[in-house]
Amino acid sequence: MRTAADYTFHHAAPEADDFYQEVIDGLSQSSRFIPPKYFYDHAGSRLFESICEQPEYYPTRIETVLLQQYASEIAALAGDGCYVIEPGSGSCEKVRFLLDALRPAVYVPLDISCTHLKKAAACIANDFPWLDVHAVCTDITAELSLPFIPEKTRSMMFYPGSSIGNFDPQDAVDFLACLAKVTGSGGDLLIGVDLKKDKGILDAAYNDASGVTAAFNLNLLQRINRELVGDFDMEAFAHHAFYNSARGRIEMHLISDRKQTVRVDGHTFDFNAGDSIHTESSYKYTIYEFQALARQAGFSPCKVWTDSKDLFSLHYLRAV
Ligand SMILES: C[S@@+](CC[C@H](N)C(=O)[O-])C[C@H]1O[C@@H](n2cnc3c(N)ncnc32)[C@H](O)[C@@H]1O
Repeated sequence: MRTAADYTFHHAAPEADDFYQEVIDGLSQSSRFIPPKYFYDHAGSRLFESICEQPEYYPTRIETVLLQQYASEIAALAGDGCYVIEPGSGSCEKVRFLLDALRPAVYVPLDISCTHLKKAAACIANDFPWLDVHAVCTDITAELSLPFIPEKTRSMMFYPGSSIGNFDPQDAVDFLACLAKVTGSGGDLLIGVDLKKDKGILDAAYNDASGVTAAFNLNLLQRINRELVGDFDMEAFAHHAFYNSARGRIEMHLISDRKQTVRVDGHTFDFNAGDSIHTESSYKYTIYEFQALARQAGFSPCKVWTDSKDLFSLHYLRAV
């Protein structure tokens, strides 16, 4: 047996140039947009963990209960000794509720936030000494290459947190189709999906009273200032999040509260009061809508679990 806290680390993270280019391109559009994957530097990853502890942010609590409650059913569907691959694994906290029941041969956390991933993988390796852990720092929206996984290995993708909601629906289909390609026919996907519900509950979840989601959103500008020689004035932008019922999604924006010019590495960007940078969408689905989307991506629904108030869903799907 390996020594505690040993794990294998693979690095395929995006270059700093990608961040630079996507920020410059995103700020140059008439509808300004920066992809949410750039929230997650080390500070952003820690702020996300703190969001999960806010009383208004129900998804983490409910999904955790569902995982605990249905771990043995999930294990029966997955079978012994599979490879568990977790895109966007973050703190790797949720997989802990499955490992004892599942007894996978290998756990493969994938995340763009390298420092955070290393820490989380070391904790898992330490706490589950029987488990082989291969952590991969990568952008999961780029082509996923996991050459250390032998062909014909039975694998289960684990994609909790309703991160699928960050993709526009067609991009979500394309992304799930990529996951199906990695697992191959007969491979599984266990995925957490936030459900459509009362707008008041959704608006509150993304506007916690302690201001942690606001700090998470604004950290993106601090990250640009730190890493890309930007001069965003933190006092001159405000967090704005709301449920857009027509599009079935939460939208997060940073709103300029005055007329101002911002510089990023010699590029200048003019803002009027009220101008927005769209930083995240989080689509909500009904169970039927999500299953239709998963089918388009090549997955067949096996089982779905929800809480008693139908706030959140956990789907078990199999690639056809
Ligand atoms: C909303 S958090 C969810 C974390 C965890 N899975 C959970 O359910 O609590 C999203 C995670 O995905 C990672 N992430 C976001 N975009 C990514 C990308 N394009 N490639 C790899 N990881 C990404 C972030 O660093 C973060 O850890």
